[in-house]
Amino acid sequence: MRTLSDIAELRQALGQARRQGQRIGLVPTMGNLHPGHIALVEAARARTDVVVASIFVNPLQFGAGEDLDAYPRTLADDQAKLAAAGCDLLFTPTSTTLYPQGLEAQTRVHVPVVSEGLCGASRPGHFDGVATVVAMLFNLFQPDLACFGEKDRQQLAVIRKLTADLHFPIDIVGVPIVRADDGLALSSRNGYLDARQRAQAPALYRNLCQARDALQAGEPHDTVLRDTLARLSAGGLAPDYLELRRADDLSPVTDATRDAVLLAAVHLGPARLIDNLTVSLP
Ligand code: PAJ
Repeated sequence: MRTLSDIAELRQALGQARRQGQRIGLVPTMGNLHPGHIALVEAARARTDVVVASIFVNPLQFGAGEDLDAYPRTLADDQAKLAAAGCDLLFTPTSTTLYPQGLEAQTRVHVPVVSEGLCGASRPGHFDGVATVVAMLFNLFQPDLACFGEKDRQQLAVIRKLTADLHFPIDIVGVPIVRADDGLALSSRNGYLDARQRAQAPALYRNLCQARDALQAGEPHDTVLRDTLARLSAGGLAPDYLELRRADDLSPVTDATRDAVLLAAVHLGPARLIDNLTVSLP
């Protein structure tokens, strides 16, 4: 696997692959890779000829007071994991390479509606930062396909919308959430939890499962959401939000909605954990 940090070199390497008629699959990440990221690489490898990944801790998507400086950076380990998973090329740009004029002067991509609410409400500007860097990576790599995790369900919806709105000819593949044995969705941020918090964290998934079962059994939405919030709080998880949305575009559910998704974010010690589950409403 080659690792490149330079845009001209990246374009040259990709141009070669494209001239040979190879299909290119992109996996954008912020590094500190775990089996959730590797599932994206495998999904790309199953569908394309050349798998390319990026590792870039994107300052544009971190708010003031968030964990930009603390975010774990483990490049050598990540390179070994990507190579073992069959990734062909890794792009590791610096912030100066992607944003040479600095963050303030940077052109931004804003995806309205779907960026608002849920994580967008507690992380203002976050999805503009995500949309901007993803649009830039799409433009640099010009992949045929790009893989994103369903773990970040709102991010996936934002990226589907920007891909359609900007007419990128790229297939967006959503990859199911990879979980630890106790149900906790794998996340680089789980490393912020101490042993006691790590033992509490799976209550998020367990409560979402219980809520999903109740919703699928036809219990009223407001009762289920209220009871679930109370149970999360009682388990030491401080809820940021818990919402039921339409599965396709995360717009509000109506009486006609059948395919829904239950999304939650909670604070647990130094970490903010997110998770979601699909729900088939009766
Ligand atoms: P990062 O948090 O590193 O995640 C990279 C990709 O891995 C995302 O598409 C995310 O949804 C997916 N992912 C993370 N944990 C997962 C899990 N447990 N199961 C399945 N997929 C999982 O998300 C970002 O980086 C950034 O916002 C990025 C898209 C790279 C833009 O900067």
